[in-house]
Amino acid sequence: MFSKETYIQRRQLLRERVSRGGIILLPGNGEAPRNYPDNAYHFRQDSNFLYFFGIQQPDLVGLLDIDAGEDWLFGDDLSMDDIIWTGPQPTVHELGASVGVTRTGSLAQLQETLTLAIRKGRHIHFLPPYRGDNKLKLCAWLGLTPDMVAHRISVELAIAIVSLRDKKSDDEIREIEEACEIGYRMHTTAMRMCRPGVRERDIAGAIEGVTLEMGDGVSFHSIVTQHGETLHNHSHNGILESGRMLLVDAGAENLMNYCSDFTRTYPVNGKFTPMQRDIYNIVLAANARAFELARPGILYRDVHFAAVRVILEGLSALGLVKGNLDDAVEKGVHALFMPHGLGHMMGLDVHDMEDIGEKYVGYDLETERSNQLGVSNLRMARRLQTGMVMTDEPGIYFIPAYIAKWKNEGLNKEFINFDKLEPYMNFGGVRIEDDLLITETGNRILGKRRIPVTVEEIETFMAGN
Ligand code: GLY
Ligand code: MN
Repeated sequence: MFSKETYIQRRQLLRERVSRGGIILLPGNGEAPRNYPDNAYHFRQDSNFLYFFGIQQPDLVGLLDIDAGEDWLFGDDLSMDDIIWTGPQPTVHELGASVGVTRTGSLAQLQETLTLAIRKGRHIHFLPPYRGDNKLKLCAWLGLTPDMVAHRISVELAIAIVSLRDKKSDDEIREIEEACEIGYRMHTTAMRMCRPGVRERDIAGAIEGVTLEMGDGVSFHSIVTQHGETLHNHSHNGILESGRMLLVDAGAENLMNYCSDFTRTYPVNGKFTPMQRDIYNIVLAANARAFELARPGILYRDVHFAAVRVILEGLSALGLVKGNLDDAVEKGVHALFMPHGLGHMMGLDVHDMEDIGEKYVGYDLETERSNQLGVSNLRMARRLQTGMVMTDEPGIYFIPAYIAKWKNEGLNKEFINFDKLEPYMNFGGVRIEDDLLITETGNRILGKRRIPVTVEEIETFMAGN
């Protein structure tokens, strides 16, 4: 937990930024049952609640009264029956005091407070709930039906929270750096284990063990696959084969739930074939281009376009793509090979604040989301600012079904040498992902040491096993 002054200040800034007045409701998460109520998933607190209240305890609700300038924490103290199972726990009042909240009450008192506020016609601001139980609680508290909830979201609150959470403080960067160090250990563990005959599951289990030993677990379900062409391939059923590449996209949360997110792709047998090296080096050049360009004031959409341009230049040099590359970018030809965006914000969520809505996190009045091929999946388009943390994760994928579709439909056929793609049908995919902090003068790669990334670094590292 950060100092109590940090949370006091964050809540005060939030109250100041929601000028309409009224009440801000920030429900924490409850336990989420896996297969019956008493067998819950590992508890994960809501990130907005964590940001403003910092408490890692289920079933609490934060409330900011903008008009009165008061912060409240609501929850029920544990009964003796609970304590027999959980051991002694701090009271809601003690929890509140630890983050500078002196006004606390029970959940019944929360309901009374909200009923009174509704009767007085006060505005109640809340964010889009992403868990069913929190949605139902909102409905019960506010007298809504579930289908009304989406229409009552407070855009002003969404924008205010994004404006606070999108720039990370030095304290937050320290936490993210810690998550990056866990990520380094995960990825080097995977590289060390990688050899023919090993199961993807062996590696997935080992790296997730690292996150549990050093932090709070994974920041998302680990991708450990020889089928890197399937962007979010969550199967770990493969057995590693010489000649193929392993793609590992995995990250950690530290004990404060700050995240890391890295991807490395390397040959199972530790030695790149010429074909693998060529594709790999194009992706690495695109990743490097983003580092060259990312700085305050630049649109991340422009960084995305510069990176995909590098990819098209590389594929053109290999003869897979032809024609004028400016036109190719314009037409979205790169989307055949990289159907995702260059990156996303990262912080207390691996896709930071995605629950609030990409519309407010990655876009603004200047940057409307595009439907165009190749940009429609870009999560972050808006201008970078000092303190933002971004991922830089270009890739090249040979997705047989997608290539067949383009070929059959003649889509962008003037730019693509479909015949030359035949030898790549079993290639898989390459993605390289690092995390970067936007600084006043540019950016820096997060993590005290970079996971081996060049062909030479990877081959040397793997040869040392
Ligand atoms: N690393 C997984 C993702 O960004 O979606
Ligand atoms: Mn990512």
